[in-house]
Amino acid sequence: MSALQAVKYSRGSLQVLDQLRLPHEFHYEAVTNRTEAWESIASMRVRGAPAIAIVASLGLAVELSNSSAPKESRDATIAEIDEALDYLKTSRPTAVDLTNAINQLKARIREGPESADDVVQAFVAEAEKIFEKDLQTNLSIGDHGANWLKTHAGASSSSQISVLTHCNTGSLATSGHGTALGIIRTLYSNNLLKHAFCTETRPYNQGSRLTAFELVFEGIPSTLITDSMAASLFRTRGKEENLAAVIVGADRVVRNGDTANKVGTYQLAVLARHHGIKFIVAAPTTSIDLETKTGDGIKIEERKREELTQITGAVIKPDGSVDKASKVRIATADQRINVWNPAFDVTPAELIDAIVTERGTVEKGADGTFDFSQIMPERWSLIVG
Ligand code: MRU
Repeated sequence: MSALQAVKYSRGSLQVLDQLRLPHEFHYEAVTNRTEAWESIASMRVRGAPAIAIVASLGLAVELSNSSAPKESRDATIAEIDEALDYLKTSRPTAVDLTNAINQLKARIREGPESADDVVQAFVAEAEKIFEKDLQTNLSIGDHGANWLKTHAGASSSSQISVLTHCNTGSLATSGHGTALGIIRTLYSNNLLKHAFCTETRPYNQGSRLTAFELVFEGIPSTLITDSMAASLFRTRGKEENLAAVIVGADRVVRNGDTANKVGTYQLAVLARHHGIKFIVAAPTTSIDLETKTGDGIKIEERKREELTQITGAVIKPDGSVDKASKVRIATADQRINVWNPAFDVTPAELIDAIVTERGTVEKGADGTFDFSQIMPERWSLIVG
């Protein structure tokens, strides 16, 4: 099988892989307009910070490319696109890639285009650029991350390291290669990886459904654990496995380095620090939010109770046949039990050893915070001064 693709795009056509059906079924659905893009993101058929931004941008690009409705004027077209982008932004609140993509698209359609048609063309070309650039970004993150682990975690071909990752940050969450999983992929192809561990990632199981599937797909030696097994793994097998790093992705890294990522990330950072294991965040600069000063300013998405009290999966029937997409209730339906279901948590910068971006790896300064001014001088001077 060729490489995994969350998104298949050619001008005027967008196909999005339904990740809720993975790994049991491979089903692409067409996304033809803003509403379908919004639903695909909000229902988590597509998920992962970069992929969310890509589907929102390309979904609207497809709608605009295929629209035969006459456009009134340049300004009316800009206003219509702004409105569509503001609506798409409401699909999921925590990942900042979508906001950064929207800002980029809004700026692009204001610079240059003189007619309504030019505005549409500029929007479509910029959305395609966001999609195409993401792959190169991830390959660079892979290289920077592997180099950092050679220098700081002793990874070498004669002393391969093992790593643990959480949630899914691979091809399925991006346009290809992945961020944290991209570093693991690069380690493996450079003969620096002994073993990859991945967590189940409750409640939505992005680790067991998606990452375990991607690791096997790539032929990377790997082991799946539940979220609650990490401490035991570090204590009992850390030395024998040469487990040197936890590598995670990010939905939003704020100015001081505090990082929102899939719920369960924070507890892994605490455990890594206790066990002397490096804790690395892999984040494209599109996941960095310089406007928010600390993690306290991050809005954490809370999702519905059924995503915790029920699971979707393949049911194996007594006769051995498989029902590929069944819902199973795993907690009482009694509403008297309250359910708290935050999709993300915030890991404080003090627990993070390095933030790997496509522009290089950032470490903490003497004040214990990360300084992004070196790798993002333009955005830094616009926002921070
Ligand atoms: O709720 P999800 O599946 O969208 O959460 C995804 C994550 O938390 C990822 O780690 C993050 O978006 C980075 S993906 C490269």
